[in-house]
Amino acid sequence: MTANAICERRRILTGIRPTGPLHVGHYAGALENWVKLQRSYDCYFLIADYQVSDFVGDSSRVRNAVWEVALDWLAVGLDPNDASFVIESTVPEHAELMTWLAWFIPIGMLERNPTLKAEMEAIDDPADAMTKGKSVSVAFYIYPVMQVANILMFRAHLVPVGDDQLPHVELTRETARRFNRDVKAIFPEPDALVGRVPRLVGTDGDVKMSKSRGNTIDLKDSAEIVARKVRVMYAGPPRGAREPGSVAENPVFLYLDAFDPDVAHVMDLKERYERTGVSNKELKDRLTTVLNELLEPMRERRAKYDSNPSLVREALEQGMQRGRAIARETMAMVREALDLDYFRKR
Ligand code: TRP
Repeated sequence: MTANAICERRRILTGIRPTGPLHVGHYAGALENWVKLQRSYDCYFLIADYQVSDFVGDSSRVRNAVWEVALDWLAVGLDPNDASFVIESTVPEHAELMTWLAWFIPIGMLERNPTLKAEMEAIDDPADAMTKGKSVSVAFYIYPVMQVANILMFRAHLVPVGDDQLPHVELTRETARRFNRDVKAIFPEPDALVGRVPRLVGTDGDVKMSKSRGNTIDLKDSAEIVARKVRVMYAGPPRGAREPGSVAENPVFLYLDAFDPDVAHVMDLKERYERTGVSNKELKDRLTTVLNELLEPMRERRAKYDSNPSLVREALEQGMQRGRAIARETMAMVREALDLDYFRKR
């Protein structure tokens, strides 16, 4: 790829908070799109370490999680020669840009942000086992503003994310509009792109797959672990193997819809399930096969990088350099637009 070709491509910025291993919900909701888009866009994938709560006093956990995210990305087939992997805090200009942009964001937009509201309620909830005894920090409250800075720093055109991130992309568009209108038109208004399966239910049937609930199937799970997790998966109200059931009540079908490439076979299973009944074992065996076929190539790629950590480090260093180059450009534009040259001759 020549330098010119890179300049001509439209830009993608998206990211993930490094909190642990990524799961098949991340894949169907976002990563699958990223892999498809990486050759047609100039892509920047951000590991958002400024945006993880619990950082202070537990930096080894964050360091491990950063590494884990990079490995997961390499495993799903993101190519660090096509795309740039950027650790957020290695481009500290994000913090500076956030400070300026925060002046363009009305506080009401944070107060009404539904994703932020739900996350803060979970943190405040004394019954939430993960966050017990914690309260919401200022840093958590303003993470959507940091995310605005991430996206605008890279002057991105497209932000492929899970559907819970849509309010943050809307906040970004609004901030860009205001800055462009009131200061100088330097930021594209980015579009969001949601993956094929906006939200995958957890293996326990909960509305969302999440690490804190322990209801995930992780990209790095072995074939045996996948088989075990599927075997104990929630499969609707109790039902005999030869008793008809309701497809809508059995989340195993949501997984088959999401991952089984043989659509005709899934249709046949659904039809038989409602007419004569299909055993949960048959459904789950099929799901195990499908998931393991999806994950096997990822396991192979992961093994290659696992045994060659210098490749991972190189990918992160290269991404950092590319990220810094763009941040320097953007910050020069922003400072010029804000007319911040205090030492200019009067
Ligand atoms: N907040 C996102 C998440 O929790 C991660 C993220 C950080 C992000 N910066 C971003 C996503 C910029 C898109 C664009 O998944």
